[in-house]
Order: sequence, then structure tokens, then C-alpha cells
Amino acid sequence: MSGVIEILDLKFQPYISSEKIDEVVGDLARQINSDYQEKNPLFLCVLNGSFIFASDLLKKISLPCNIEFVRLKSYEGTQSTENVREVLGLNVDIKNRDIIVIEDIVDTGHTLAHFMDYLRTREPKSIKLASLIFKKEAFQKDFKLDYVGFEIENKFIVGYGLDYNEYGRNLDSIYQLI
Ligand code: IMP
Ligand code: MG
Repeated sequence: MSGVIEILDLKFQPYISSEKIDEVVGDLARQINSDYQEKNPLFLCVLNGSFIFASDLLKKISLPCNIEFVRLKSYEGTQSTENVREVLGLNVDIKNRDIIVIEDIVDTGHTLAHFMDYLRTREPKSIKLASLIFKKEAFQKDFKLDYVGFEIENKFIVGYGLDYNEYGRNLDSIYQLI
């Protein structure tokens, strides 16, 4: 992993290596493969942030499954806001399906809480949540995360899909704001 990087006006330092991410994503995939034996889950990947995590995780899923993409937005700059807007909707029938939501990061939890309320109105059989990163101290909701890669302190990070003002998503490891 290289050293300090600059994105726009901010500096970031290496935080989670790509090797560590691979290892943890492999663990999550194994758990999901074992929990969903004989099932046919529908993965809902939350864009844009989850695109790399979803891709790496799903390559390791050995179940018959379907994959769809949803776009939500709730974040500007480095502050989470309660303003959740659905930008790109869900066009498939999820009634009676076993849903696994794939998120990059859960911070306050507002984004996912809003999304789950929306999903429940469409009567899925079950909903489970997979997030690569969980900022436990920032969490303001009471729902449970079923699959979590890393619990981290409440500091802003970028890379592996996560952005700072839409930059940094392509980094193959995770960096933390200095
Ligand atoms: P929440 O609604 O506060 O849980 O925020 C979730 C969304 O905020 C995520 O899907 C990310 O898009 C964004 N977010 C939260 N924390 C970070 C961070 O540290 N870096 C980049 N994006 C973040
Ligand atoms: Mg996101």
C-alpha cells in the first residue's frame, strides 16, 4: 500500500489494505453461501458506493441468485444528512424473495432505514443487510446488520467504491482522512 494521498482539498492515509479487504470479503461470502443453501436470494446492490464490494463479493457467491442495482443518495461532502432521495428505482418484483442488500458503508443508518421501509412495502420474504463498513459510533438506528466486513471509528474514509465528492472510488484499498 502506498503512502499519503491527496483528493481535492483533503489528505488521506492508508487504512485498510486490499489484501485485508479480500480476506474479509471472502469470509462474508462464505457465511452467505452457508446461510442461503437451497435458497435463491436477490442481491440489491446500492450504487454508487457498493459497486466494487458487490462485484468482489458476488464473484465468490456460489448460490443461484439474482442481482439488481438501486441508487440512493444521502451524502454531501463529508457529512451525512437525513435527506434520502431515491434516484434510481427498483424495477423487479421482490414479493416473496429473500433479499440481501449490499451497501458500502453504514454511517448514521438513515439511508438503509429509509430503503428498508421502501422494500417492506413490496412484501419480500426476508431482508438481510450486508455492509463492508459499519461506523458503529455514528449509528442512530436500531436495525441489525447481518453481514459486516469492518467496524470502524467515526472518521471519513475513501476508496474501494467510497468517494469524497465523487473522487477516490477507484482506489483499490481504503484510506482515512488525516
Ligand atoms: P448513512 O445514511 O448516514 O448511513 O450514510 C450512508 C451513506 O453515506 C453511504 O452509503 C455512503 O455513501 C456515505 N458515507 C458515509 N460515511 C462515509 C465515508 O466515510 N466515506 C464516504 N462515504 C460515506
Ligand atoms: Mg452508499
